[in-house]
Amino acid sequence: MEKYKFYVLTSIPPGTAGGDPVAVARVLIGGDVRSTQVVVIGGGPSGLLLSQLLSRNGVASIVLERQSRAYVQGRIRAGLLEWGTVRLLQEAGVGARMMRDGLLHEGVELAFGEQHHRIDLQALTGRSVLVYGQTEVQRDLAEARAAEPGAVVWEAAEVQLAGWDSKRPTVSYLHEGIRYSIACDFIAGCDGYHGVSRASVPPQHLQQYERAYPFGWLALMADVPPLNDELVYANHERGFALCSMRSSSRSRYYLQCSVQDSVDKWPDERFYRELRARLPRQFAQRLVEGRSLEKSIAPLRSFVVEPMRFGSLFLVGDAAHIVPPTGAKGLNLAAADAGTLAQGLIEFYRTGTRTLIDEYSAHALDRVWKATRFSWWFTSLMHKFSEDAFAHQLQLAELRYLAQSETAARAMAENYVGLAIAA
Ligand code: APR
Ligand code: PHB
Repeated sequence: MEKYKFYVLTSIPPGTAGGDPVAVARVLIGGDVRSTQVVVIGGGPSGLLLSQLLSRNGVASIVLERQSRAYVQGRIRAGLLEWGTVRLLQEAGVGARMMRDGLLHEGVELAFGEQHHRIDLQALTGRSVLVYGQTEVQRDLAEARAAEPGAVVWEAAEVQLAGWDSKRPTVSYLHEGIRYSIACDFIAGCDGYHGVSRASVPPQHLQQYERAYPFGWLALMADVPPLNDELVYANHERGFALCSMRSSSRSRYYLQCSVQDSVDKWPDERFYRELRARLPRQFAQRLVEGRSLEKSIAPLRSFVVEPMRFGSLFLVGDAAHIVPPTGAKGLNLAAADAGTLAQGLIEFYRTGTRTLIDEYSAHALDRVWKATRFSWWFTSLMHKFSEDAFAHQLQLAELRYLAQSETAARAMAENYVGLAIAA
């Protein structure tokens, strides 16, 4: 049963803004309704990073996260950071553990049949990537935000947005049975694909683009040394495979599977047998098997919504776009959005200028569509779409071209390490 903290009087005093629950509550309790500059909905990586960047630049925010801190921290996601993301996390003051424990990867292997070719990211672009799990990024950010009491409300249920199309929106939520309201200047919708922020905007204001892929990824985590120092992406006639890692003693492996598949049908032995079958012998023979710590299946999809701003409401990260995991752009895009929005909001509070805020949507979407294109291309190149032998030959021809042409390899490498975050 929902209790309202502020409803202590039965009649509304004269002069109270009619019908606006926050205005009413503010009067009833003598102005004691919480207010802040930015309410951030969602305490995943994009929400916490945004709040942390704002805080370091003197902008106040409150994060409302539906789940518990432990639950959010327990979610296993991708683990590859572009250099721009590394820089942003350092700027946010959460880079120490990442720089100590992250693994610097200067190249990546593309395998096809018995062949494989290393894309030398560092030589081709002057940049590398950092292997560091999203789980760890989440932990570092949550720890940093915990230093500011009240900055994050975990287990904030039934979050509701009001007046997002006005200059003084409010966000209310239920916590331990009491409904609270926060008045603010801006709302950042960092609440993922299934969140309430995008859902609060009437559909006629949204242009949505979507592509579903006819397969999923079956993932396995195990405490065994990775079979290679760098990541191996494999195109095989049995389907795609990826050998990734979290550390020198923890491996993360993926297999393309049917979306109808279930993890019960994939005991560890079957998983490893299939992985071995999809890799060139040189890699397969180095595979060390170990009991799975986690196994899951995720569907693949591309999704973009335009615009990413509606009045005082900004969409950030997965709330506005989803990419298939091939190339691990999801977290990097989410971080880039958070960085871009933070810049705009910081500029606004320092100078009163709205230029960057007004450019946020166009600026973010430019990057989003480039990463959407790359993720779609890399997915299309590496996966089995059908029994179409012609399509498979085209993939193999493109992989050989990537192996032979420095120009083609550089175009791939440039996208893989991440296109620069423009100011
Ligand atoms: N109210 C409050 N919080 C909510 C609500 C809601 N109604 N709905 C969702 N959330 C929370 C979720 O519980 C989650 O913790 O919003 C958070 C969104 O986090 P993510 O889904 O991780 O999205 P984001 O922070 O944008 O990060 C994107 O995470 O999903 C991966 O692959 C994705 O790597 C990418 C990155
Ligand atoms: C991961 O380690 O989870 C990972 C790495 C690279 C990808 C996708 C996922 O392209």
